[in-house]
Amino acid sequence: MLDKRKGVYFMREIQLNDGISMPMLGFGTSELPQNEVSSVVRNAIECGYRLIDTAAGYDNEQMVGEGIRQSSIARSELFITTKLKFWWHGYEDAMRECKDSLKRLGLDYVDLYLIHWPVERNDEAWHAMEALQKDGLVRSIGVCNHHTQHLDALFDYGEVRPVINQVEISPRLQQAALREECAKRNIVAQAWSPLMAGEAFAIPQLQTIADKHGITVSQVVLGWLLSNDVSVIARTRNPKHMQENLDAFSYVPDAEDAALIASLETGRRIGPHPDTFPQVVLPHINNLRQKEIETSCE
Ligand SMILES: NC(=O)c1ccc[n+]([C@@H]2O[C@H](COP(=O)([O-])OP(=O)(O)OC[C@H]3O[C@@H](n4cnc5c(N)ncnc54)[C@H](OP(=O)(O)O)[C@@H]3O)[C@@H](O)[C@H]2O)c1
Repeated sequence: MLDKRKGVYFMREIQLNDGISMPMLGFGTSELPQNEVSSVVRNAIECGYRLIDTAAGYDNEQMVGEGIRQSSIARSELFITTKLKFWWHGYEDAMRECKDSLKRLGLDYVDLYLIHWPVERNDEAWHAMEALQKDGLVRSIGVCNHHTQHLDALFDYGEVRPVINQVEISPRLQQAALREECAKRNIVAQAWSPLMAGEAFAIPQLQTIADKHGITVSQVVLGWLLSNDVSVIARTRNPKHMQENLDAFSYVPDAEDAALIASLETGRRIGPHPDTFPQVVLPHINNLRQKEIETSCE
């Protein structure tokens, strides 16, 4: 929300189950053109974003780090998230991977380290994350794309509880049951692809709500999620859209809007389904590891 007197945005924060505060709205960096990543990240920070979301799998950590350094905001004011690639889930691999991510980012620590996808050896990956947290390389630890059965397993083998579950949530995939499951366990649900990577703009009912309030479709979607205590990661290359999305905090759906948004659920996904993801990727996991080892030796 913009403080008009000071011309700066105040970001609503949420306290995680480990006591650390996190901005509710974050800036996504996947799929950005590689040559634009650093300038887009710098612009986003200057515009008011404090949470920047990247991943080893996006191949852009180095440029994200550059964008952070080019900005005028101190590192301590920022909340940086990165994620462990699913083909490095062994304990030693995960320990090394996190250190490689920090090197690529040019940072001493990240604020949040996430398991990107629940695949084989999730337990080893989680134990590594617990150790990385003890060593001070990551402040908070969490997961992505974990359904109830993945959380059940993690609660059995894990000592530390995840602070976040970053999952696909959008008007077409509202994830009511999973959000409730997260709330019961004191885990913040965080939405990825909230704008359906652009598809949400073609949903006429969202435009109807936007017109009713004189706001934009993006503000309807992000405001709906934020007002339901869902943290949001949204991406844009466009400085005007960056500001528009920050203003989403001002919108809270009324009962009529909430009912219309609830009716949009179809189960449509933009990304992979976490329950079938392991079967799809496991046959390729050794190739992915080998390819990465060869590339890093070149
Ligand atoms: N954990 C995971 O497994 C996972 C998976 C996927 C994504 N993520 C994270 O979630 C982030 C967000 O998801 P996403 O990148 O798929 O897409 P998204 O945020 O749902 O949508 C991005 C698209 O919306 C457009 N857009 C954004 N704001 C707009 C506005 N105000 N008006 C008009 N168009 C607007 C952007 O175009 P313009 O650039 O033209 O504005 C872009 O085409 C990712 O970047 C990544 O950090 C995590």
